Amino acid sequence: MTDKDFKRYTITSALPYANGPLHIGHLAGAYLPADIFVRHLRLKNKDVVYVCGSDEHGAAITIKAKKEGTTPQAIIDQYHNQIKKSFEDFGIAFDIYHRTSSAIHHDLSQEFFLNLYEKGEFIEKFSDQYFDEEYQQFLADRYIIGTCPNCGNDNAYGDQCEKCGTSLSPTDLINPRSTLSGNAPILKPTKHWYLPLDKYQPWLEKWLLEGKKDVWKTNVYGQCSSWLKQGLQPRSMTRDLDWGIDVPLKEAEGKKLYVWMDAPIGYISATKQWATDHDKDWQLYWKKQPNEVDNACLIHFIGKDNIVFHCITFPSILHAHGDYILPTQVPANEFLNLEGDKLSTSRNHAVWLHEYLEDFPNKQDELRYVLTSIMPETSDSEFTWKDYQARVNNELVAILGNFVNRVMILMHKYFEGKVFGGEKLTNQALYDLIGKAYDDVDGYLTEFKFRNAIAALMDVARLGNKYLTENEPWKTFKENPGEAKDVLQNCLHIIAHLATLSQAFLPHTSKKLFAMLNVENNTLSYDQEIAFADGHQLNPASLLFEKVEDEAVEAQIKKLDDRKEWIAMEDTAAIIPSKADITFDDFSAMDIRTGKILAAEKVAKTKKLLRLTVDTGIDQRTVVSGIAEFFEPENIVGQQVSILINLAPREIKGIISQGMILMAENSDGKLTFVAPKEEFGVGSVVR
Ligand code: 2FM
Ligand code: ZN
Repeated sequence: MTDKDFKRYTITSALPYANGPLHIGHLAGAYLPADIFVRHLRLKNKDVVYVCGSDEHGAAITIKAKKEGTTPQAIIDQYHNQIKKSFEDFGIAFDIYHRTSSAIHHDLSQEFFLNLYEKGEFIEKFSDQYFDEEYQQFLADRYIIGTCPNCGNDNAYGDQCEKCGTSLSPTDLINPRSTLSGNAPILKPTKHWYLPLDKYQPWLEKWLLEGKKDVWKTNVYGQCSSWLKQGLQPRSMTRDLDWGIDVPLKEAEGKKLYVWMDAPIGYISATKQWATDHDKDWQLYWKKQPNEVDNACLIHFIGKDNIVFHCITFPSILHAHGDYILPTQVPANEFLNLEGDKLSTSRNHAVWLHEYLEDFPNKQDELRYVLTSIMPETSDSEFTWKDYQARVNNELVAILGNFVNRVMILMHKYFEGKVFGGEKLTNQALYDLIGKAYDDVDGYLTEFKFRNAIAALMDVARLGNKYLTENEPWKTFKENPGEAKDVLQNCLHIIAHLATLSQAFLPHTSKKLFAMLNVENNTLSYDQEIAFADGHQLNPASLLFEKVEDEAVEAQIKKLDDRKEWIAMEDTAAIIPSKADITFDDFSAMDIRTGKILAAEKVAKTKKLLRLTVDTGIDQRTVVSGIAEFFEPENIVGQQVSILINLAPREIKGIISQGMILMAENSDGKLTFVAPKEEFGVGSVVR
């Protein structure tokens, strides 16, 4: 799909928000495919720069800081380092992992803004935006919650309802309220600078609709054409916020650049920083060259939620500026789901990369392999732990690992690990098939078909296994050791090709293979054919992959289930800082009484739930409460409580729960009973 061979490649992966750790969805969406693609280009000796960094502005960061009771700076420092480490741990081979809080990035973003401003590109206009009178500030979309007009969810955000997925504007919300004060915000006029996307529409139709048809992936092209069909509207490039890059205009004091204006410029500032560090010319990778054939090929790897920004907004900015190249490709991936449900940071439904490595130390390539094999290239796909286990055990262990292990063991057993005169692969059919595998991998990767490409790699291991099994050197060795040696040495050549071919996909495994072969691989190039000198000594065999046991899989599934259970109890509302006003009548509708716990026991097969029998003064009833992590059942019998007795009964884990015990939760998630200080008797009204 990259229609010609370029002299230079500029590859980017979406800048992750520095507001939380990375999970498998991130890896499968924008980082693993880019990393494989870049490694492949490097193996083809291409001139390539691969850049990324943390996205450190916007409401995503300030909301997290508010939630954690800390500063945006503390948040970005913490997560920038954690994210960077996860990328390193998984072998994502950026040339630079930068950050948008850097001075070089602030300067370049302001330069871009001023360039467009001086050209008269922006439309300046006042519009009414929500303002929190108590906090005296305009509210970013994410700071406003209200009822979704589409599905009725009471906690929809000003830009999106996370329940039904509808994109919203803050003014679409029914009963909007500020997450800062909990009050209903007022509308107040404020001035902003708009990028006239409507003006660029005809140009976009030509460049994108005409130019990228049958060139871009259909999921990407389809989304873009539907945006263009709806007709583009001007989009504000400035915001009333106190965290971000200052709008470089006197009259815009206190305003910041829209995070989606500055973030993609982060790709360029990262390249500038890399060029400074390595004595390179960044402009070769970003600016139009005097001869078009000298332009770099720009490819943005992203998830599907970022398509509009990379295919429409950012190219429009680059086009309006005029000096920059435009993306050749934007191979966006769809979403990865987990065990039948959407991955979700706020619901903690995720496999976090740092946690994965705690539970599966040194098993980066196992996850890389599985995620590449199920990559959501054309539609959403699903990660399940059972499938992970099956792919590791039946493919990595049984095919690749097994082949390598058999060959290495036999070489050591029969020939003391020495290669004699074994420079070439002597079997022409094998030679041709392996040559075809290189072509297949290249062809698939050029079309961003990562699943097929990794299958082509695995086919080489299959081929090796078949050849070894058919030729049975363990049988021929006694009568015809020469033949056995020939077969095993051909197998060694297959392993050498596996070591080379797997560099892009499974870099840790590739290193192990080269180490076993006792070959240095510091050249990292496909055309460096491995030749074994006469008498070359192999290193001892080491195990490439281990079987994933059922217990490990069950533990992971349980971990996810336990988290879900907790969320069901909390009803997901815990993340909302403050709720909308209610009337006195609303309050008095709640019947809260003092009560006493008469009995308590754990709910079977759960970690967090206790089944309580509570004396309410009116009756004795059953309440299921999510407090098992904090209290032993035997220690709370006799505990005074406050209980909401007119909460409609709910079934939790097959038990009908009648009421809710009032608990206070501090910022560490610790719980304590809200109850009278002295012995008070049961049935008293709490109001
Ligand atoms: O969606 C996100 O996570 C954004 N932080 C991606 C930004 S990509 C680029 F434009 F920087
Ligand atoms: Zn909704």
